[in-house]
Amino acid sequence: MDKLVIEGGKPLSGTIRIHGAKNAALPIMAASLLADGAVRLRNVPRLLDIEVMLGILSRLGCHVARNGEEVIINSSIANSAHVPEDLMRQMRSSIFLMGPLLAKFGEVSVYQPGGCAIGERKIDMHLSGLEALGAVIEESGGQIRCAAAKLTGTEIHLDFPSVGATENIMMAAVLAEGTTVLTNAAREPEIQDLQNFLNQMGASVTGAGTDTITIQGVKKLYPCEYEIIPDRIVAGTALIAAAATRGSITLSNTNSAHLVSLVHVLRRAGIQIRAHDDIIIVNGLTRPKAVDRIVTSPYPAFPTDLQSQVMVLLSLADGTSIIKETVFEGRFKHVDELVRMGADITVDLHTAIIRGVPRLYGAVVEATDLRAGAALVIAGLAAHGKTTVEHIHHIDRGYDRIEEMFRSLGASVYRETPLKQPDPA
Ligand code: EPZ
Repeated sequence: MDKLVIEGGKPLSGTIRIHGAKNAALPIMAASLLADGAVRLRNVPRLLDIEVMLGILSRLGCHVARNGEEVIINSSIANSAHVPEDLMRQMRSSIFLMGPLLAKFGEVSVYQPGGCAIGERKIDMHLSGLEALGAVIEESGGQIRCAAAKLTGTEIHLDFPSVGATENIMMAAVLAEGTTVLTNAAREPEIQDLQNFLNQMGASVTGAGTDTITIQGVKKLYPCEYEIIPDRIVAGTALIAAAATRGSITLSNTNSAHLVSLVHVLRRAGIQIRAHDDIIIVNGLTRPKAVDRIVTSPYPAFPTDLQSQVMVLLSLADGTSIIKETVFEGRFKHVDELVRMGADITVDLHTAIIRGVPRLYGAVVEATDLRAGAALVIAGLAAHGKTTVEHIHHIDRGYDRIEEMFRSLGASVYRETPLKQPDPA
């Protein structure tokens, strides 16, 4: 298992380019199944989850190729609608394949993706949305089989603005007969990116970014080229790391309109931020001020995916802050590790009370999930002394060589890969 070794206490400085968004690329790669022919995607980040999705598409018979941050997916030769259990278990986002495979083949079989460190991760809204479009769903032994002789547009209301359910329903409805109106839809920028990609292939989708998305079914979709939006969570992680180390950095290839809620919180903490076009500049030269209340909630509210990172900043603030996590029930796994580094944080069910301390101290800590791991890296960068972050494969799922990103900003961090033990003779 790789580790990161960090010598903390150095203010970050310099400029970095933010890579493409994992949570836009994954559904768009799944949606490429809908066009018979080669789809060319640019600005696709080099991440573990992207490699797993390419592996699944290849197992379904697609021709896939990657050249740097460009990916080509040709699904004209896809010959299977069955997602293998071993690959489903590698990445729960394989669930995004249900909608496109059902639309393309009239059937799909997947396995219950199961929960993960951050929560139960149910898929009931995905399944009820596909049923509403005409799918017959059978579940047995963890396998879920869907079939639909025909998909018919209808009205669907989500009990909660689920990102994945919104995306699966959009991808199933684009080739359905008639019009689908999805209400209480998720409004994330990644949903807008999926709409733009589907329309680039010849679909007729409107409303993404609002709570009502309308999909007029079309007969056929065509191959296209498309560029994935920048990753707002990677950008936010870098901004928070700069503030936590009292550094000053510039981000390029970002979209500051996707980070309004984070910029608002950082300004409340006394951090200077300037944003124009695709550039964001942050100066965290002073000790941050406490922020009395942050509540995570679906976009455009404060994102759950930046909750653990901003908690590190507030653990160093002057005063007491409160964070309430309302999206995932298990998203405080980083707290115990931060307390071991000297933070003063208490958790009451889904609310964390963070009493700022003057400094954190290096320690050996363990990443439990993607964003908790990123938070521990930020803590190590800010702490006095040496921090070792273990189980960093969680981090590699969503950050392209995080150590190189921070090293290019002046951090002292390197990846330690244990030597393979020689096979016993
Ligand atoms: C997406 O997950 C993102 N993943 C997550 O990012 C992100 O945290 C989340 O949206 C919220 O923004 C990808 O896009 C690949 P949800 P998703 O459906 O679609 C419950 C990261 O770190 N729910 O909006 O799974 C669910 O249990 C990852 O990059 C149901 O109850 O999120 C959760 O509590 C982590 N039934 C809440 O809704 C359903 O059918 C939000 O889930 C679906 C969801």
